[in-house]
Amino acid sequence: MPQGHPSKHKLGERQKRTIIGADLPETEIFRGDLLIQSLSASPRSIGSMYYYDDTGSALFERLCQEDSYYLFRAEEEILAQYTKSIADVTGPVSLVELGAGTAQKTTLLINAYMEKHGSTSYAAIDINRSILEKAAENLLSMTPDLNFTGIIGVYQTGLEHAANVTGQKLLVCLGASAGNMYDDELHRLLHSVSSLFSLGDYFLVGIDLDKRSDILEAAYNNQSAILTNLCVLQHLNWRFDGNFNVFQFRHVAFHNKSLCRMEAHLEAMQAQSVNLKRLDFSFFLEKGEMIRTEIMRKVNLLTFNDIFIKHGLNPVHHWTDSKRRYAVCLFQIVNAP
Ligand SMILES: C[S@@+](CC[C@H](N)C(=O)[O-])C[C@H]1O[C@@H](n2cnc3c(N)ncnc32)[C@H](O)[C@@H]1O
Repeated sequence: MPQGHPSKHKLGERQKRTIIGADLPETEIFRGDLLIQSLSASPRSIGSMYYYDDTGSALFERLCQEDSYYLFRAEEEILAQYTKSIADVTGPVSLVELGAGTAQKTTLLINAYMEKHGSTSYAAIDINRSILEKAAENLLSMTPDLNFTGIIGVYQTGLEHAANVTGQKLLVCLGASAGNMYDDELHRLLHSVSSLFSLGDYFLVGIDLDKRSDILEAAYNNQSAILTNLCVLQHLNWRFDGNFNVFQFRHVAFHNKSLCRMEAHLEAMQAQSVNLKRLDFSFFLEKGEMIRTEIMRKVNLLTFNDIFIKHGLNPVHHWTDSKRRYAVCLFQIVNAP
């Protein structure tokens, strides 16, 4: 099987630790053509995947420890309390995770399935290969019986591989990553899930609930959030031989109430010419011009569920933390698209 293309193998039948896509060129993950498109658009933007080079991934872990960034702890609280209920509802499944990162919280889920249903298989999809290796090491040292597959790639290619996992599946998307997708991206993802996966498969999604602006704005304006955002420019500089002067940008994050989301931007404090040599792409930024780097949906569950229902994914149950700040929602594929 050529690496980087959908597997014909049944992933559940592989050895304990498998990495798929190890020789996939990073240019197919971090696509220059898409970056040029988003930087040329009005308003300009950079895809949130650029947060996650090795520096950005380490900063994200630091952000999760910030007092004001309640999302990580709220999701962890829900999983610590309810993974057994989730495993009861679904019965035995193979786990597949989108944007797994270090899979720290996923261990709670894996342990519950191991305890309840014996051995389980886990496929982790992520664009960052070193983080997948770290996840494999952590998980296999704690759970040697786990059948681990790391899939290096973007969500779409990851899902194409994961569709070959044997048996009933539970797709997992934690860390409010679904909230980082624009409407068209979320619709494309859900269309892929319902067309590539089978009737009866489940999808577990962690998502942040809408709340007061001051709480939201504190979560995204702490020191780690500021550094994480500025490091996006450093990522573009090393990957595309760029000349962004990080010191001439300012982090801006605010609650866009009418669109029910937080937005992170980088504002140019000086007018400047930007050149990304490896992409042969230049543009001019005016003083005060903003580049949007991320959106973070803050949802009302009824509206959020409707998006999934449109793609044949039925809400089964949801669980919230004790302060009702965050929800983990379970959907099941009931209709083919
Ligand atoms: C918000 S973090 C969540 C990490 C972890 N699931 C958690 O809950 O802490 C998002 C993760 O998704 C990965 N990621 C971001 N964009 C991606 C994409 N388009 N395709 C695949 N993985 C992506 C990042 O590398 C990062 O590990």
